[in-house]
Amino acid sequence: MSLKLKIWRQKNSKDKGQMVDYNLDGVSPDMSFLEMLDILNNKLVREKGDQIAFDHDCREGICGMCSLMINGQAHGPQGGVTTCQLHMRKFKNGDEIVIEPWRAKAFPVVKDLMVDRSAFDQIMAAGGYVNVNTGNAPDGNSILIGHEEAELAMDAAACIGCGACVASCKNASAMLFVAAKVSQLALLPQGQVEAEHRALAMVEKMDELGFGNCTNEAECEAQCPKGIKLDNIARMNRGVVQGIFAARK
Ligand code: SF4
Ligand code: FES
Repeated sequence: MSLKLKIWRQKNSKDKGQMVDYNLDGVSPDMSFLEMLDILNNKLVREKGDQIAFDHDCREGICGMCSLMINGQAHGPQGGVTTCQLHMRKFKNGDEIVIEPWRAKAFPVVKDLMVDRSAFDQIMAAGGYVNVNTGNAPDGNSILIGHEEAELAMDAAACIGCGACVASCKNASAMLFVAAKVSQLALLPQGQVEAEHRALAMVEKMDELGFGNCTNEAECEAQCPKGIKLDNIARMNRGVVQGIFAARK
């Protein structure tokens, strides 16, 4: 099929950037969205043009790198998948597709469609860890965990840190990401050692880095490729209150 592509081009973080039009033929419906961009880049190489920079790594929906806004939707029109899992059969011959990077103050554009998401790493460093004793590995199943807690923790741990929640939120809030990371640890006994300060420390870091606050728009849940639920935000908010009281002790 043939497509009309409108793609954001930006030389670096200082450049103003602009949308550039491309026509692309020979796209198979079986290609992934990233393979379609590969075909376009091959064409640009042949024509001695500047290739389009975009992030990717696993191409299996695991790493969270493929951060693209496609026709105004984070990861495109199909729910529950990342951009690398999106197939071109979701589009029609002759379609116009608008492709942009994540837009958020805390995710500055590096080049074209690539953004710097290291702000997420800084939030994790503020509290998203568990202290463990070094030495022999503990016996398996030595700490019993209820089935429901284990399931909820696993659901929260499905977050791949892609940033679609931030990109789709009108406040550019990272609450769903932070809440998923807080929950996966707070629900398990191993994570409860640092629980008193974790949520507060991570939310304070989120604010400091320029992410907005949550006003219950729920776009984050709707666009999350891993089905992370808003319930996690409620759990995290309880943790923040506990953290405030703990800090006053
Ligand atoms: S909560 Fe969902 S949208 Fe946000 S970073 Fe995690 S996987 Fe991506
Ligand atoms: S490239 Fe890893 S999730 Fe898409």
